[in-house]
Amino acid sequence: MKKLLTLALVLALLASASSAFALTIGFSQIGQESDWRTANTDDIRTKIPLEGWELIYDDAQQKQENQIKALRSFISQGVDYILFTGVVTTGWDEVLKEVNEAEIPLFLLDRIPEPSTLEKIEYVAAYGGDFIEEGRRMAWWTVNYLEKLGRSEEEVNVVILEGTTGSDAATQRTQGIEEVLAKFPNVKIAAKQSGNFSRAEAQPVMESWLKSLDKIDVVLAENDDMGLGAIDVIKAAGKVPGKDIIIVGCDSPKAAFDAIIAGEMNATIECNPLYADAIIPMIKALEAGETFSREIVHPEEGAFDAEGGVPYTEDGSKLTVKAADAIDERKY
Ligand code: AHR
Repeated sequence: MKKLLTLALVLALLASASSAFALTIGFSQIGQESDWRTANTDDIRTKIPLEGWELIYDDAQQKQENQIKALRSFISQGVDYILFTGVVTTGWDEVLKEVNEAEIPLFLLDRIPEPSTLEKIEYVAAYGGDFIEEGRRMAWWTVNYLEKLGRSEEEVNVVILEGTTGSDAATQRTQGIEEVLAKFPNVKIAAKQSGNFSRAEAQPVMESWLKSLDKIDVVLAENDDMGLGAIDVIKAAGKVPGKDIIIVGCDSPKAAFDAIIAGEMNATIECNPLYADAIIPMIKALEAGETFSREIVHPEEGAFDAEGGVPYTEDGSKLTVKAADAIDERKY
């Protein structure tokens, strides 16, 4: 009898604890492939509970089927909001319609489904970086740096370590890079292949290029983790990263700053992962019955290299900041 009473008391306490949250928010995250992803996850998982809201987090381990299961589980748990980052752009119509039918407000974060899906579903915001512009910036930095080195007339071979196949972050960064490099006939894209935004998965790709290509002058890594993977392999092959081969990454976590300061990476273009301070006011606005624009670009302005002062936009108006001067302020 005493045991039964204790069990009843524990259940009552649990029930009152679960109803203590003003809101319950489901967050379907794609995985933990990069420093960027870790920072994005930690930021949301830390700051949402500070509002007194419950966050139900699901790590999909890069698998679309896991994300579909997570979204359906959020529906059956009756969450108040869903935060969703899709690993790829296609294949979401059915499950996102189910989210709509359940009338759960949907935030699309970072990776945004393809336009044909967006036409069919309701969402409160599509909030992420401008991947095409990030790719352009990687390419503009590269051609301007080559000019600074006096190599603008030279035949230059570039390889592109692409992100996850089928993700907008990868296809759009490649699009931005190719759009700019097409203006420079001396700069040739010798190869491009996915390293899945992962340091470990970029390594065999770089290894095979070092064996199969006669000359690699520049690695454009669509995130810094893959750039760091390329650096590991270049060093193991007896070459000097940052000098024999120029390495340009994207994201700008502290690890990239360290590599730039060590002279092994040449530049990183910012893609900022800290979303919580933008999403929380949007949720509060919705709770207050207010509206806001649905398509919002997350601010990201910076690019960083060893000395600073290199232009990384077409009009030349934005100049890199010296990584050593900025590293102490970096939050991720
Ligand atoms: O979608 C954003 C990209 O995904 C980041 O650049 C990369 O590091 C991450 O894994």
